[in-house]
Amino acid sequence: MTRSRWQAGAVVTAALMSWTASGGESALKAVNCTPQGEVRGDVGRGAALHLQHCAACHGVDGKAEVIVMHMDVPPKDQSDPAYMKTLPDAYLYLAICRGGEGVGRNFLMPAWGDLFSDQDIKDLVAQIRTFSGT
Ligand code: HEC
Repeated sequence: MTRSRWQAGAVVTAALMSWTASGGESALKAVNCTPQGEVRGDVGRGAALHLQHCAACHGVDGKAEVIVMHMDVPPKDQSDPAYMKTLPDAYLYLAICRGGEGVGRNFLMPAWGDLFSDQDIKDLVAQIRTFSGT
């Protein structure tokens, strides 16, 4: 699958706009970023969300090999099992919900908690896990 630079750039711009608009403090749709029950949701739904909102920075396979914008701290390789085993599902959920700054990582990773439902984030966690098979 090929994505034009323009399309990928538009995704990043939209992501940054939603991040800026959230101001970091808005009422979170995903209840305080505290998941209830099973943290891994539906891979199929997660894949569609990932393609639309995340792949521009993380790559369709989580490897973050295709650079569409300069990032001082580029995303790590989410297809690396050794690395991904060090990250619990609850951390992945929190990183997506609160964004990089919310978990002591780079601010370029947007916070999605005001845009996505609890279920959306669980679906994304399930999808991210498929990259490394962990
Ligand atoms: C504008 C670029 C950008 C977009 C869009 C983006 N991310 Fe990120 N993401 C990053 C960067 C940069 C980091 C690494 C931050 C660091 O390591 O300090 C990151 C880190 C993460 C982490 C933490 C992983 C780790 O190694 O600690 C997760 C999980 C994550 N992103 C998931 C997502 C998901 C899911 C989406 C889509 C809903 C998404 N990201 C969209 C840039 C982005």
